[in-house]
Amino acid sequence: MNLSVVILAAGLGKRMKSGIPKVLHETLGRPMLQHVIDAVTPLKPEKTVVVIGNGADEVRRRIGAAHITFVVQEKLLGTGNALATAGKELNKGAVLVLNGDGPLITTGTLKKLLTRHRRSGNALSFLSFTDDSMGGYGRVIRDGSGRVSAILEDKHATPSEKKKFTELNGGVYVIETSELGCLQRIRKNSDSGEYYLTDIVSIVSDSGKRLEAYNCSPEEIRGVNTREDLYQVTEIMRKRVIAKWMKRGVTFIDPRRTVVHTPVSIGRDTVIYPDTYIEGKTTIGRNCTIYPGVRICDSTLGEGVIIKDNTLIEESRIGKGSTVGPFAHLRPMSVVGRNAKIGNFVEIKKSTIGHGTKASHLTYLGDAVVGSNVNIGAGTITCNYDGRNKFKTVIESGVFIGSDSQLVAPVTIHKGAYVAAGATITKDVPPGSLAISRAKQQNLENWAKKRRGK
Ligand code: UD1
Ligand code: CA
Repeated sequence: MNLSVVILAAGLGKRMKSGIPKVLHETLGRPMLQHVIDAVTPLKPEKTVVVIGNGADEVRRRIGAAHITFVVQEKLLGTGNALATAGKELNKGAVLVLNGDGPLITTGTLKKLLTRHRRSGNALSFLSFTDDSMGGYGRVIRDGSGRVSAILEDKHATPSEKKKFTELNGGVYVIETSELGCLQRIRKNSDSGEYYLTDIVSIVSDSGKRLEAYNCSPEEIRGVNTREDLYQVTEIMRKRVIAKWMKRGVTFIDPRRTVVHTPVSIGRDTVIYPDTYIEGKTTIGRNCTIYPGVRICDSTLGEGVIIKDNTLIEESRIGKGSTVGPFAHLRPMSVVGRNAKIGNFVEIKKSTIGHGTKASHLTYLGDAVVGSNVNIGAGTITCNYDGRNKFKTVIESGVFIGSDSQLVAPVTIHKGAYVAAGATITKDVPPGSLAISRAKQQNLENWAKKRRGK
């Protein structure tokens, strides 16, 4: 069966009071339009057309995906005109039309709508819902026998019509492409100067063809017109994601205060404390513990990893059984092996840290390759930057770096070597040797007394 998808995303989003096109505003770290695309992709449509206009170039740049066809609506003449603009791109069969500002819609609901549409042999089907608290939606008008006859936009409805017609239009339609000719018969609304897609309902209804509105949960339909809506929608999505992971065996100490993005995956028996943000394409293994105040972006954590309080992890990988934090920062391209310990106030950038290695306190490791079972003393710093270029530090396995040492890169500390505390290392250290680089200590006896005597 032929299916095409059209997503209407050209609107201005005036009510957002924003310099960013509305459909690019993010819910859980992804543009709203991206969520709508994610919901339709599993339906395997032959074609997905996105109608853009306002901020078209920006939308194209952000949403660039090979399987999307962008069509530009030159003048924003309403949703009816937007679909007509996409019309020439459509194949035979049915077309699923969605608003780009409704990111809560799920694949499951869309599948159900398509099945009902096909089974009933409808010319037109759409989703409706009932919720008195939600304003601004089109109202579904049914005749005495309960047959859908029209959609009346909220702003054109009288108070008595609003009272009478409480079923609302969800803005998700399935239309047989053979009916798209009806779009030419939509008249310009004299008040707003727009062509309303919703007018297609009365046109199809008057022609005597089959049409139906199917009720669904308001939690899937809620669109974003204002910042308040953006918050409400994000909150619904956030709760949905947390509920999914709880069902799969993840503990949230306070689910109201945890944000998990949609592409994230979390293993069972992992415990997540409040005020944590698990973002982007992050994978967390089983039996991990994430303490409060942690943000993890686009990273992978193996089994049993512990992230202590107030830690930031970006584009990094952490092996099984390792501990990171409190107050640690893993910057992009950091790889930490198994059973390692990255402690208080440690910053790591673009470095590899071997299995069982410890950097427990106050350390900066940048552009470094550190072997396994290395002990990095408190206050160790890789001096990786000379003001122009970045250089590499290599610390081989079994090395012991004394506290407060500076390793001036490029430099290599070979296997099993020791660096005495307070060293400034500028030359390679051979395997198994001890490097000391500090002024010899002198003790001036009775110095204090002599000074007092002066
Ligand atoms: C629309 C429906 C309303 C429904 C609601 C559901 C119409 C006339 N009204 O109202 O019945 O209850 O959605 O959320 O369709 N757009 C374009 N080109 C345009 C105008 C809009 O592409 O010229 C896009 C917008 O970017 C947006 C979508 O169409 O993604 C809906 O437009 P919007 O102005 O938000 O319509 P609503 O007033 O919400
Ligand atoms: Ca809307």
